Amino acid sequence: MTTSTSTRLSTSIYTPEMARLVNVEQMTELEKLFTIELPDGRNLGHDPGQFVMLSILGVGEAPISITSSPSRSNGVFQLCVRRVGDVTNALHALQPGSMMGIRGPFGHGFPIEKMRGKDVLFAPGGIGLFPLRSLINQVLDERGFFGRVIILYGAKRPEELLFRNDLEEWAARDDVECHVTVDCLDESWGEREPFTCSEGVITTLFPDVSVDPRNTVAITCGPPIMYRFVLKELLGKGIPETQIYLSLERRMKCGVGKCGHCQINGLYCCQDGPVFTYAQIKGVEEAL
Ligand SMILES: Cc1cc2nc3c(=O)[nH]c(=O)nc-3n(C[C@H](O)[C@H](O)[C@H](O)COP(=O)(O)OP(=O)(O)OC[C@H]3O[C@@H](n4cnc5c(N)ncnc54)[C@H](O)[C@@H]3O)c2cc1C
Ligand code: FES
Repeated sequence: MTTSTSTRLSTSIYTPEMARLVNVEQMTELEKLFTIELPDGRNLGHDPGQFVMLSILGVGEAPISITSSPSRSNGVFQLCVRRVGDVTNALHALQPGSMMGIRGPFGHGFPIEKMRGKDVLFAPGGIGLFPLRSLINQVLDERGFFGRVIILYGAKRPEELLFRNDLEEWAARDDVECHVTVDCLDESWGEREPFTCSEGVITTLFPDVSVDPRNTVAITCGPPIMYRFVLKELLGKGIPETQIYLSLERRMKCGVGKCGHCQINGLYCCQDGPVFTYAQIKGVEEAL
């Protein structure tokens, strides 16, 4: 358990704090980026990969990954949210200045200390970039502590590419190997785009990237179907199961290991995860 979670435990893990929405940015047709401020302007104190329980009064509560990096906090944090149902639609209707409830940060995030000194390969698919953006920007803010930084990002269509500003910045750096692909590259992708995008599923990016497997930590997050194929590529490159991290998603209620809603064969996704090594979950039925 992280220090930040321990601090919250000493107050109340069940009582949301009222936080203020300071900015909203439309990212794609379905996703918006929300910048949020806690009451006294203090930092959330999260680790990349952790999540908060976000509540809209009279509607409900939902677990959402923190997409901003702790190294860029400045008294605010960011959540990127796809509208799919009650809570997320109510959130999308809010304007800057509106209030919402926040519990957390909760869960185990990515072990950045185990990644220092190593090459890091990020493989987010679609909205899997929500939690990974936090870690990628943290790594880039501490760039000198890591070896190669490789980003292989895949989305379905050009208009579904998330965080274009970040992608542009990552692609422009000569100390980052950033490759982007979409399943279907149509005419909406013009020649003047600020970064290159190829056509094909995310696994088409792997053959051109060689890695030193013992010295590489791989981080992946995406839809369950993607894991099967991305894991095959990572294992095929010889990266040890203990050095492959992924973030799992389950329906949650309490977010703190009490209600059992998020259980996967004895593992609590909210408390033991949401970040696990492949070695931890590979034998666990239903995990993927
Ligand atoms: C650790 C964690 C981190 C997450 N991070 C993010 C994030 O950063 N951004 C984001 O947009 N979403 C994230 N999610 C998913 C998000 O929690 C759900 O989309 C949200 O709870 C939906 O709530 P709702 O009230 O809007 O939808 P509901 O009204 O509850 O449901 C609407 C529809 O979506 C389906 N549905 C909702 N949630 C899920 C789910 N988790 N799995 C399968 N089907 C589902 C329901 O079956 C229903 O058909 C995360 C989930 C977890 C567990
Ligand atoms: S959400 Fe309640 S135990 Fe995980």
